[in-house]
Amino acid sequence: MDREEIYKKLSAVCASKKELYSTLRSLPLDVVGDVLLHIPDEYSELKDALPTMATELVQTNWTGSSGYTLLLQSSAFVRAVSSSYIALTGKTLENVNILDFGCGWGRLIRLMYKFSPPEKIYGCDPWDKSIDTCLENKVAGNLALSDYLPEELPFPGVKFDFIYSFSVFTHLSERACNKALKACRKAISPDGIMAITVRPKSYWDYHVDTMDKVDREKMKSDHETVGFAHTGHYHRVMEDGDILYGDTSISVDYISRNWKDWEVVGTDVFLQDPFQTVVLLKPKF
Ligand SMILES: C[S@@+](CC[C@H](N)C(=O)[O-])C[C@H]1O[C@@H](n2cnc3c(N)ncnc32)[C@H](O)[C@@H]1O
Repeated sequence: MDREEIYKKLSAVCASKKELYSTLRSLPLDVVGDVLLHIPDEYSELKDALPTMATELVQTNWTGSSGYTLLLQSSAFVRAVSSSYIALTGKTLENVNILDFGCGWGRLIRLMYKFSPPEKIYGCDPWDKSIDTCLENKVAGNLALSDYLPEELPFPGVKFDFIYSFSVFTHLSERACNKALKACRKAISPDGIMAITVRPKSYWDYHVDTMDKVDREKMKSDHETVGFAHTGHYHRVMEDGDILYGDTSISVDYISRNWKDWEVVGTDVFLQDPFQTVVLLKPKF
């Protein structure tokens, strides 16, 4: 990869957003991620035209790592779900309506520029700081604040071909999961795919509990017997005495038994982020 050549190629078309994003889509996935990680100051017009990177602190606090380490994890997830999407639907992710549910600072939305133009990319998150950070960094796409217990998604009338939700169901309470699933179910196309990540039981052996103490054995036992183990972060959003956000592990068997509106059509694991098991879901009719 010759970075200079790529910056020049993109700079030549950056006066037109349409052409710029179309040129970005012609590049390999990892190159799209690489370009958006750092654009040298000498390409100032290109820098102005594309999203900037969230600060090191935001990346680490929200997603556990930053820079290249994080990009390799992000890109492994996107590769995994884009190939699963092809295998399950016979179509590529190109030019389809994509939703990032719980988009955070926009880390994965940036990689979706490989597939669809920004006007077909959507991101929502119930935390105002997430959406504000996306906007501050000029993340392109349709961004909106959602509810912690949503009835509907904040994009009336839009049907999604692909919804993904990374490291969100790994945190939600059972009540918040159910509400999120219902809202996504209403907005997914009949032949759409939803990819979420969940944590396996072994997560609890590695859980860092400096902030919130947790009974690891109880969590493992809940995972084994119920299939769903959750501990709320005491400082997080509450609704009628319920803490909606914390740490959660969910078994695939629990999903098959309890999420009646969805069918589990695949699972995947990638070693770059071994505690994020991908579960692929199709709407059931
Ligand atoms: C660990 S971060 C992951 C962010 C992003 N998905 C990523 O992988 O970079 C969890 C995100 O879930 C969001 N979140 C919290 N409660 C939620 C809910 N009930 N529905 C959707 N997202 C929620 C948080 O605001 C936060 O942005």
